[in-house]
Amino acid sequence: MTGAPVDGPTPDAAAPAAESAVGAAGAAPAVEAGDATGSPTATPVLAAEGVVKAYRGGDGSRLLVLDGVDLRVARGEMVAVVGASGAGKSTFLHVLGALDRPDAGEVRLGGVSTRTASDEALAALRNRTVGFVFQFHHLLKEFSALENVMMPLRIAEVPVAEARERAAALLARVGLAARAHHRPAELSGGEQQRAAVARALAADPPLLLADEPSGNLDHQNAERLHALFAELTAELAVGVVVVTHNRSLAARAGRILHLEDGRLRPATPAEGGV
Ligand SMILES: Nc1ncnc2c1ncn2[C@@H]1O[C@H](COP(=O)(O)OP(=O)(O)OP(=O)(O)O)[C@@H](O)[C@H]1O
Ligand SMILES: [Mg+2]
Repeated sequence: MTGAPVDGPTPDAAAPAAESAVGAAGAAPAVEAGDATGSPTATPVLAAEGVVKAYRGGDGSRLLVLDGVDLRVARGEMVAVVGASGAGKSTFLHVLGALDRPDAGEVRLGGVSTRTASDEALAALRNRTVGFVFQFHHLLKEFSALENVMMPLRIAEVPVAEARERAAALLARVGLAARAHHRPAELSGGEQQRAAVARALAADPPLLLADEPSGNLDHQNAERLHALFAELTAELAVGVVVVTHNRSLAARAGRILHLEDGRLRPATPAEGGV
């Protein structure tokens, strides 16, 4: 597949309904409970094997971005992916999150392959399995923080009173109880990102994918967001893959992997590894 923009959300994810549908609560059998300790032996919520992805440039040349990448992520485990600009990190996240399909190899979300699924099945799989957080919050500007967080629950047909209660609890969890009725423009940058995290997790997806989530934040707000990622990973036993240039965020992950020349390997200390 060529031509999909990879920096920031794809058109699919940017579409309000698509993005706010991330993770439909109770819409499907939960992925088998993983080991909340993130043990590699736990059932992976995400399993990528031999993933290959290439783009065709304007001049017809083939740009091989992912050249056989393997990754398994269990619930309760946070994995950081680092690498140079243009290394293919966003491309990788999009393929992992079923926003795009691999050219070869396999991505399984909760045991279901994304390669052979129809577009419709892929959207449904994504909606019930994956929460996304991007560098820009992509909250719907005409709705309050509470309404934004309720959106995935309403799409999953959770009754409105229950959706409101769950959204309010999540907003409180991310420190935004007093801002629930603010629209995105009435929130600070850090608050907007925390609301975006609450929305991504509203419908209880087993997997959270984040692409430079603190890329636009000042140090203090970035640190607060990073702490939240680490806490929620453990509390909600969600599997997290976070692409970041931020060393302090990477350092909170159980594993730090470096993407280079289409391959993923443990990052060296110079690359942000330990
Ligand atoms: N739709 C596309 N068509 C052709 N080439 C693309 C397309 N999208 C991305 N690329 C190229 O694929 C490579 C990987 O892009 P990607 O956005 O995944 O990198 P990245 O690691 O996320 O970079 P950054 O850290 O700057 O966000 C880049 O060289 C980019 O120019
Ligand atoms: Mg990128």
